[in-house]
Formats: sequence, C-alpha cells, structure tokens
Amino acid sequence: MTYEFTTHSASETVALGKCIGERLRGGECLAYVGGLGAGKTTMTRGIALGMGLDDDVTSPTFALVNEYRGGRISLCHFDMYRITSPEDLETTGFYDYMDSDTVLAVEWSENIKDALPEDTVYIRIERVDEETRKITINGDERFADIGDRYLG
Ligand SMILES: Nc1ncnc2c1ncn2[C@@H]1O[C@H](COP(=O)(O)OP(=O)(O)OP(=O)(O)O)[C@@H](O)[C@H]1O
Ligand SMILES: [Mg+2]
Repeated sequence: MTYEFTTHSASETVALGKCIGERLRGGECLAYVGGLGAGKTTMTRGIALGMGLDDDVTSPTFALVNEYRGGRISLCHFDMYRITSPEDLETTGFYDYMDSDTVLAVEWSENIKDALPEDTVYIRIERVDEETRKITINGDERFADIGDRYLG
C-alpha cells in the first residue's frame, strides 16, 4: 500500500517519523528515497523517538552507520551516499544486521537497491518548497491509521 503525507516543517516530519517508529516491531528495513536536504535524517530522528530511543540523531555521513540502542529494539542508521559496490556495502555491516531485530534506516538506498530485502518499507521524501515535503510510504497496513495525527 502507498500512504501519502505532507509536512510543513521539520518538526512535523519528526512527528510523522515518531508515528512510524511507534509502529515498528523490529527487523524492518526502511529505505529512504530523496535527495540532499530532503529530510531523511530529520525523519530518522522522529523514528528513533517513536522507538523509545534517544532522539539525538545525527547524520552518519562519516561513520557510514550510527547505532542507537537502549530501547525495546535497536536502530541502525546508514548513509549509503558513498557506497558504490557490494564490497563497500559489506564493510558497513549492513548484511550482519539484516537477520536481526534491529531496524535499518537507510539514506541513499538508491545506491544499494539490489541488496534491499523484498519487504523493505520505502519512504520517499520530495522537497516541494523550503518547508514543505511530500512524503510517501510504501508499506503494509500498519501505516494506514497515521492519518493526520502527526499534525499535532
Ligand atoms: N518539512 C520538512 N521536513 C524535514 N526537513 C525540513 C522540512 N522543512 C525544512 N526542513 C529542513 O530541511 C533540512 C533537512 O535536512 P536533513 O539532514 O534531515 O536532510 P537529509 O535528507 O538527511 O540530507 P542529506 O542528504 O544531506 O543527508 C533541515 O535543515 C530541516 O530543518
Ligand atoms: Mg541525512
């Protein structure tokens, strides 16, 4: 199913991410599609919040992966911007997490599309203007009841 949302500020995107995070059971792969500054890291901050984790989420640009533990389930936040080969991907530990309860949130998932599991939840973020984002989730009915509750 495809679910569409429009956010009008970074804090609304965090709130939407929180709704998504609350609905995760563990082991999901969340693949972001969206360019520079779309709001992928911002949304991940909300997802961490919804999972009961620290919301001090920063871009994994240099580390390639940041791991957040201490909640019901852990979150691994990847930045695949510079990943161009299966060997590169291997070094991030992506495959090691795949069969665990850890939730994977993947920025620049376009770069590893052949490695994404079949049941990947895709989160597309399109920049409409400075503060407006169109956000499309491709996932199961768990995300159906979010409606506009993220608007606060
Ligand atoms: N509706 C919105 N949703 C998300 N971010 C927004 C929104 N409106 C403005 N912004 C701003 O856009 C920027 C998004 O930055 P963020 O780091 O989350 O993007 P990103 O997609 O992770 O970028 P990168 O590709 O560089 O990693 C932030 O400065 C945020 O405040
Ligand atoms: Mg980012």
